Amino acid sequence: MEQTYVMVKPDGVQRGLIGEIISRIERRGLKIVALRMNVISEPAAKEHYSEHAARSFFPSLIEFVTSGPSVSMVVAGKDAIKVMRAINGATNPVDAAPGTIRGDFALDVGRNVVHASDSPEAAAREIAIHFKDSEIGKYSRIDEVCLYE
Ligand code: RTP
Ligand code: MG
Repeated sequence: MEQTYVMVKPDGVQRGLIGEIISRIERRGLKIVALRMNVISEPAAKEHYSEHAARSFFPSLIEFVTSGPSVSMVVAGKDAIKVMRAINGATNPVDAAPGTIRGDFALDVGRNVVHASDSPEAAAREIAIHFKDSEIGKYSRIDEVCLYE
């Protein structure tokens, strides 16, 4: 079981897409093991996106991601990192396939609704930024016997 960090960004919250996004995650069989809505602080946002610190879009990315409430989750399941990236779709929504969150709900790279970690190292780092260990639930979903061989 792999864990990944997922965020419904402020545009997704403003557009009423929290339920739609959570539904897609749950119906795929992935398990939500931590969940919170908050306005991410500027230091946390800068740490989260530190890999992009030198990019021209960094200031506007930080301003946007801290502009209002977002929803943070830890999502667990088989190959959860890869599966969540596929559910989200390509970074630029113009290139995102229909059926993905970005391909169904977004048009602009700076308003692409969702985030998900892109590697095991990033997932561990991002989960630690946004959640304490004690906030991550440890439970089995009753359908796991049907989901997994
Ligand atoms: P994310 O981290 O948000 O899940 O997105 P990602 O992995 O698909 O894309 P990444 O390369 O990590 O970029 C992080 C976010 O920065 C914004 N961005 N803007 N203007 C631009 O050229 C540009 N490139 C990236 C996007 O909001 C992207 O999600
Ligand atoms: Mg990224």
